[in-house]
Amino acid sequence: MSKTAELSIDGKTYTLPVFTGTENEMAIDIGKLRDQSGIVTLDPGYKNTGATTSAITYLDGDNGILRYRGYSIEELAEKSTFIEVAYLLIFGELPGKDQLQRFRNDIKTHTLVHEDVKKILDGFPSTAHPMGVLASLFCSQTAFYPESLDPNRASEGVYMSIIRSMAKMPTFAAWAYKNAIGHPVNYPDNSLEYCSRFMKMMFALPAEPYVVDPVISSAIDKLLILHADHEQNCSTSTVRMVGSSQASIYSSISAGINALWGPLHGGANQEVIVMLEAIAKDGGNIDKWIAKAKDKNDPFRLMGFGHRVYKNFDPRAKIIKKAADDVLGKLGVKDPILDIARNLEDIALRDSYFIERKLYPNVDFYSGIIYRALGIPVEMFTVMFAIGRLPGWIAQWKEMRENKEPIGRPRQIYTGQKERQYVPITKR
Ligand code: CMC
Repeated sequence: MSKTAELSIDGKTYTLPVFTGTENEMAIDIGKLRDQSGIVTLDPGYKNTGATTSAITYLDGDNGILRYRGYSIEELAEKSTFIEVAYLLIFGELPGKDQLQRFRNDIKTHTLVHEDVKKILDGFPSTAHPMGVLASLFCSQTAFYPESLDPNRASEGVYMSIIRSMAKMPTFAAWAYKNAIGHPVNYPDNSLEYCSRFMKMMFALPAEPYVVDPVISSAIDKLLILHADHEQNCSTSTVRMVGSSQASIYSSISAGINALWGPLHGGANQEVIVMLEAIAKDGGNIDKWIAKAKDKNDPFRLMGFGHRVYKNFDPRAKIIKKAADDVLGKLGVKDPILDIARNLEDIALRDSYFIERKLYPNVDFYSGIIYRALGIPVEMFTVMFAIGRLPGWIAQWKEMRENKEPIGRPRQIYTGQKERQYVPITKR
């Protein structure tokens, strides 16, 4: 028998259906509550609101579990590749050999962007943050592929938008970086795989040979897998929300890139390094910075700490911490910032403020350290996150469309003035 919940208010009782997910998570379905009672629910920041049902990613924040389409993040990070994981997230199953080959080739065929994109890029001053440039270039694809404006077209059309998004993202990202440093852009080298191609576009200089270090490209591949999806976070909810108005995939994802940019979300990886450098510059006085993070009169927060859903540990942070040790060891990099990060983590994890609030290092705490060791400049850290998150955004957008979800439109409780008369300026 299906479960129900009862809600009593003003002497009236309403029976509400309870929805149970595959992992026995339960949600009270309040979809008809307003029609029955005139009452809405209130939950700023959607802290306890399921905005959708989804078959893509399972996350158990209390036990530190993260699975894409049923496969554990630990296993995928160790055994899979980013392109295979992208296929899994977007199409629901691991690809067979031929399917993977076709997906990979289709992506390779579309890595070039229209030459006119360079004119858009040229319009940005070199002071432009690469995230702003990335979001703009991504959205500009609606102009180059106007057929994408109709998200209801046949599935082959949607497939092409998916391929173009995956293919062009590293090109846009590397070009945003080249713009920031005032260098000419590099074109994609399709003899290379996804991450190596991106590295070459980022770092090759005119007339100089560039050989991709396999340690670097495989570390990037792993980082992208770890970032590939994270169910209904701020940027993904944004993609679904924008897409729910039947906006195109490019504009929906561009909105997601902007949402990711903020320091409380993907922008935290850049802020972690800024924070660690500030602590180093300040003489490495970790206690002082911990005290600042605890002080309610000080806006400073320990960047890379805390998470809306993980209240035990972030499984991605565990993998990344180990990967940081491996990569720095293999590349022979000794980074004093890593020592500060480790000490900061040790001290915070023993401090009652962080223990009581269940604040642990999140994915961004160590990812910035690896990116630094790999030679990725700090303003590009959040762009790296965006490259990784792209298949998740695509999968969530596609699922939302296929499930024919209604337009996202939350309610509110009005707390402003009651109706009053307009007073002309001469009488105020
Ligand atoms: N440093 C100090 N105090 C913190 C921190 C922190 N990093 N994070 C949370 N708190 C405190 C907060 O002040 C509050 O204390 P109190 O109960 O006394 O008012 C309590 O912990 C709960 O915090 P909250 O802001 O209500 O929690 P939230 O779920 O709304 O926010 C968060 C989650 C990730 C935005 C927050 O932990 C934060 O700002 N962390 C730093 C930024 C960061 O690392 N973001 C990356 C998140 S992981 C990557 C991603 O998926 O986006």
